Amino acid sequence: MAGTPPKAPRNPGTRKPETRIVRAGQDKKRNAGIVNTPVFHASTVVFDSVAAMQEASDRVFKKREKALYYGRRGTPTQWTLQEAISELEGAAETFLTPSGLSACTLAILGCVKAGDHILVTDSVYEPTRIFCDGLLTHFGVTTSYFPPGAGADVARYFQPNTTVIFAEAPGSHTFEMQDLPALAQVAKAKGAKLLVDNTWATPLFCQPLALGADVSIQAATKYIVGHSDAMIGTIAVNEAARPGVQRAVSQIGIAVAPDDVYLATRGLRTLAVRLKQHQENALIVARWLQRQPDIKRLLYPALPEDPGHALWKRDFTGASGLFGVVFTRTSEAAVAAMIDDMQLFALGFSWGGYESLICPSNPAALRTAEPWTEAEPGIRLHIGLEHPDDLIADLEAGLARFRATLG
Ligand SMILES: Cc1ncc(COP(=O)(O)O)c(C=O)c1O
Repeated sequence: MAGTPPKAPRNPGTRKPETRIVRAGQDKKRNAGIVNTPVFHASTVVFDSVAAMQEASDRVFKKREKALYYGRRGTPTQWTLQEAISELEGAAETFLTPSGLSACTLAILGCVKAGDHILVTDSVYEPTRIFCDGLLTHFGVTTSYFPPGAGADVARYFQPNTTVIFAEAPGSHTFEMQDLPALAQVAKAKGAKLLVDNTWATPLFCQPLALGADVSIQAATKYIVGHSDAMIGTIAVNEAARPGVQRAVSQIGIAVAPDDVYLATRGLRTLAVRLKQHQENALIVARWLQRQPDIKRLLYPALPEDPGHALWKRDFTGASGLFGVVFTRTSEAAVAAMIDDMQLFALGFSWGGYESLICPSNPAALRTAEPWTEAEPGIRLHIGLEHPDDLIADLEAGLARFRATLG
């Protein structure tokens, strides 16, 4: 019809990432027009008849549809976040868990059986390693670790019963990049699955499933929640990993509190603007740090000098605000003197909130496949949304204390 304005594309797959982050999972009809899906507090769901109860049961268990059945099975509050993450990660389905760590452990449990062996990157988040070396062994599953830079060479570490490769790109203390497409190719050739902890990049900056992984995990506690006030994990799966992870999450009885899910969904909507600012601030602070005489090198794949830069540039579309600092000379007392009097950088675990954080970093003791040989302790910085000039001033005073203590 002449004069009819062109319609915006209806296929969400053609939209830009920023648009998808704002819109993914929204269902105007389901929400009765309310922009944010309300918080449904639910355990019992009541039915009008036995037939209605049976119909809900068939929809949930036989047809695998979303239907109100029982609180643990989810409500529109959970479905909104699940659908949003599935769209952003390009996943067949997304499961929610009560923390990022439980997302890592349930994803592994969903992909193994007794007698299996799994390969885990030597740079893995420490509690994931503790699970693999601890509880997982009680189920008859063994773990060995491979050098983070192995790429296609990971094939050398395979045993006849290896069924999983677990990667984390980059690792959250040493920031070593991993060649995810190469790991995926080996996994596929060997009939194993590739699981990736994608927390650092978020689905905005990396989509592991598109690079060949079977599972992409988020500690949504970090950037997706974004405000340091809720804990949650997400497991995004392809069709091959779906049945196993679904079984693990369902049979173990995982349920995520609706208030936390609401906070995560609300945080998600501003992920793109926050992350771009984290990245911009982090690059300014990192370039300043690179010029300081106390610093040997930064561990940040976004920097051209970083050994992982080429992989980062090939597979990622951005960098978050978390990086490591290696000192030329260091001591525990000097690092403590620096950290204890910081005015803006707070000392605490986790990262991904709007605020800047600092903590000592000692990754060497965890390594078993490839030694970490840099001087320790280093520090890990999360660059928040404060003005970078103020952050640099805080670091400048901190480095003066560091220097004075080191002597
Ligand atoms: C890379 C990575 N994965 C998983 C987790 C665990 O997340 P959560 O603290 O929500 O259990 C963390 C937490 O620091 C992390 O850094």
